[in-house]
Amino acid sequence: MKNTFKYIGMTFVIFTSIILMNSCAPTAAISAKGGAILWGENCLRCHNTPAPPDFSDAQWETIGFHMKLRANLTDMEIEKIVSFLKTAN
Ligand code: HEC
Repeated sequence: MKNTFKYIGMTFVIFTSIILMNSCAPTAAISAKGGAILWGENCLRCHNTPAPPDFSDAQWETIGFHMKLRANLTDMEIEKIVSFLKTAN
């Protein structure tokens, strides 16, 4: 009987941990968004979005650092946006 309670308790702890771990993971919807979509959604909020050919790869890298802070984006989001801009310039 004592062991049954122990077993139930441990199962509860394991399941709760799994649920908590999953709730912190980025949702599929956010992580599935590509650079072009993130660019459209984020870079028009404050100004017109400069077209990809307006800047070189190196300039987009620098602008990415700058606008990541301005737009409050995650590393993953700005990396996707910058790599999209670099493939389209
Ligand atoms: C919160 C507002 C805001 C958002 C969102 C934003 N920008 Fe900007 N951006 C600015 C401001 C303000 C400037 C003027 C330069 C400065 O003082 O930072 C600027 C300038 C620029 C410039 C001119 C070059 C430079 O570095 O000064 C480019 C290119 C640019 N932004 C691209 C982007 C891209 C790409 C995104 C999306 C990742 C973006 N911006 C999102 C506010 C924003």
